Amino acid sequence: MQNFTFYNPTKLIFGKGQIEQLQTEIPKYGKKVLLVYGGGSIKKSGLYDQVIEHFNKLQVEYFELSGVEPNPRISTVRKGVDICKQEGIELILAVGGGSVIDCTKAIAAGAKYDGDPWDIVIKKVFPTDALPFGTILTLAATGSEMNSGSVITNWETNEKYGWGSPLVFPQFSILDPVNTYTVPKNQTIYGIVDMMSHVFEHYFHLESNTPLQDRLCESILQTVMEVAPKLVNDLENYEYRETILYCGTMALNGMVQMGFRGDWATHNIEHAVSAVYDIPHGGGLAILFPNWMKHNLSVNPARFKQLAVRVFGVDPTGKTDEEAGLEGIEKIRAFWNSIGAPSRLADYNIDDSKLDVLVDRAMKNGEFGNFKKLNAEDVRAIYIASL
Ligand code: NZQ
Ligand code: ZN
Repeated sequence: MQNFTFYNPTKLIFGKGQIEQLQTEIPKYGKKVLLVYGGGSIKKSGLYDQVIEHFNKLQVEYFELSGVEPNPRISTVRKGVDICKQEGIELILAVGGGSVIDCTKAIAAGAKYDGDPWDIVIKKVFPTDALPFGTILTLAATGSEMNSGSVITNWETNEKYGWGSPLVFPQFSILDPVNTYTVPKNQTIYGIVDMMSHVFEHYFHLESNTPLQDRLCESILQTVMEVAPKLVNDLENYEYRETILYCGTMALNGMVQMGFRGDWATHNIEHAVSAVYDIPHGGGLAILFPNWMKHNLSVNPARFKQLAVRVFGVDPTGKTDEEAGLEGIEKIRAFWNSIGAPSRLADYNIDDSKLDVLVDRAMKNGEFGNFKKLNAEDVRAIYIASL
């Protein structure tokens, strides 16, 4: 293992009816709140009304930023920053999925910065201060509710980048499985793929002696795979929603990634696709990840075999590590197909016409990936395999 320091200050408030905790959390930060949400799902589900009721009960003065896009845009972040600066906002409350939370993180840091918040996203400047914010999560997927990362898109330049700062951990996050009942089947599937992909990003590292980390990762994958097929056919089942919601948070809140650096190349490759084609993040990952795995199987076949045997039930008898590992990769693809995830870029009508742009966007900051450094040729090969 590498030396490490673990830090995660987010207060996780989990379970049915936990929205009541707003009554104790909000007053800690002030009386002026900016409510940030997406395209209207919280209005349909009734969650918006519940939040407003709590604001009224607390007599807070609230402002709203609605319409945060899936793959949230810097133009929306700028609007939020303006409201915070003009109105003297003291707390931001994000109510939605990963996009709403990521947008809120950029607003929180941008509100305490004099320049354009895009400078923060492209890491031209590192935030030195941020407004406090809390979240009410409505979609199990990204882990953004309990981590310090954020991914923002610049639609004018077709760029999408992740950035992070210890200043943008949520102060609190309220996770009630009931709030995820209305997530449609396709978004539920994308979320499942995303959380599994976060575990895969952790799993493929070059560090030695990580037996507990390996098993933590494997147990998240096993749990998701046990429950996901049942959930996609029973979207309002409390226990399935509860398990998947908890798995999504655990997959990317730092708990399973201590003592090593995960790979994260596939996320970078996917972000380029959604920057150019605006496809759902989890859909892109379902297409790309098995192809990243095949491309890098030879880096450490024993690791792929371990995953195949322990999680995907591959019998290694009489097989080389490569053969067993490859069988595991095929099983990942088959599992994702079985729950309804896409498997080719063609499923989103993406052909090779912008291949150069995709490679260019993915390579923007040079070679990347900690398990295997990928160059432009590697990235092109993975895109071609995914067409
Ligand atoms: O906008 P609304 O109307 O709320 O609808 C959303 C949106 O259309 C809908 N939705 C969310 N909760 C719902 C619901 N519909 C009905 N009922 C509910 N309860 O779902 C759609 C997708 O929402 P979005 O927030 O975009 O999905 P997700 O949580 O998957 O977030 C994706 C974004 O997060 C980034 C991705 O790149 C992408 O931009 N990521 C952020 C990470 C992080 N901060 O740690 C890590 C991830 O790897 C990822 O890159
Ligand atoms: Zn992801």
